[in-house]
Amino acid sequence: MKTSIVLYCRPGFEKECGAEIQEKAAWKDVFGYLEIIKKQGVVYFHLQQKDDAERLMESLPLFRLIFTRQWFITLGETLALPEYNRVEAIVEQLGTDWQYADLRMETPDTNDGKALSKFCRKLAVPLRQALRKGKVLTAKGDQEGAILHALFFNGQEVQLGYSLPGNSSPHVMGIQRLKFPNESPSRSTLKLDEAFLTFVPKDEWPERLTSGMNAVDLGAAPGGWTYQLVRRGMMVTAIDNGPMAESLMETGQVKHRMVDGFKYIPQKQNVYWLVCDMVEKPHRVAYLMAQWLLHGYCKEAMFNLKLPMKGRYQQVSKDIQMIKDTFAEHGAKYKLQAKHLYYDREEITIHARLLTPPPLAD
Ligand SMILES: C[S@@+](CC[C@H](N)C(=O)[O-])C[C@H]1O[C@@H](n2cnc3c(N)ncnc32)[C@H](O)[C@@H]1O
Repeated sequence: MKTSIVLYCRPGFEKECGAEIQEKAAWKDVFGYLEIIKKQGVVYFHLQQKDDAERLMESLPLFRLIFTRQWFITLGETLALPEYNRVEAIVEQLGTDWQYADLRMETPDTNDGKALSKFCRKLAVPLRQALRKGKVLTAKGDQEGAILHALFFNGQEVQLGYSLPGNSSPHVMGIQRLKFPNESPSRSTLKLDEAFLTFVPKDEWPERLTSGMNAVDLGAAPGGWTYQLVRRGMMVTAIDNGPMAESLMETGQVKHRMVDGFKYIPQKQNVYWLVCDMVEKPHRVAYLMAQWLLHGYCKEAMFNLKLPMKGRYQQVSKDIQMIKDTFAEHGAKYKLQAKHLYYDREEITIHARLLTPPPLAD
């Protein structure tokens, strides 16, 4: 029997999401073909072997996928919903063989999808009740079982499926929604906020993301990223020829240097975080970040790589491989993660740090 994996990505990036899953699945000897739902941010990866979907989801961590926000294994074909008795139709397709720990009502991340959210909220109440009654959904608070996904394309069509709790996003549609802080000088602030939440586990914040640390922000103006560092109590050197927001300068935590971010080198080796949002050729930024880490100018780096117009997955893979090769050439062990975050647009965010002493430190 055929199975499929449904993947969510940012609308417009379906090709990248598809190319990536196809390539990374092949590394695990899982082969399939793609069905792309254009501009909906939804990709189907159809597999020939029944067990391939679970095997892939058990062996490929979601955090290894750059363009995928969330994924699930399909339970049957897309279900056509009747005008009435929608709950019954869904319950019937699910059957009673399996139990799930949670239900996620989801839609494509589009304007039409947003318009559907009211419909989903209304339907969720009786659906949850019916599923609990039939013991298809376990009691509230049970975190053990798989997560049931109901992806509504519209009011007449739903795709049901499940994801594995240890290897799926904890957020509905894989989207972590953040509140824009009014004091921030730019909306870009949400990118760094999301990046910290995504790449640095909260229980490690006291050692890795805390007040009193020194940070450098390359391409800092007007200061949305600097704001995230300042609000966490850090001292920030902001590098940019453009002006920084007065409100940030008034905190006394920011030194503004109007110099080229590619030439700046910190005088003391006391910088913990390097963050970089310079609009520049991605391979130049990638090379610069690798050099900062190898020289020990910083301990951890969070940066954006702007995506090209064409061949975005291929180009980004090349840039990431270049960073990894540079680390490997110097015998440095490292941790690197890359993600197309929800607040990213034509860029991806990378987090990198060395796990061994920096080999080129003075
Ligand atoms: C997208 S904006 C940064 C926005 C900032 N992260 C924020 O949240 O407000 C990119 C910035 O990079 C700066 N920039 C580009 N090339 C640079 C370079 N070589 N050195 C320093 N800054 C550079 C630009 O002046 C611009 O202010």
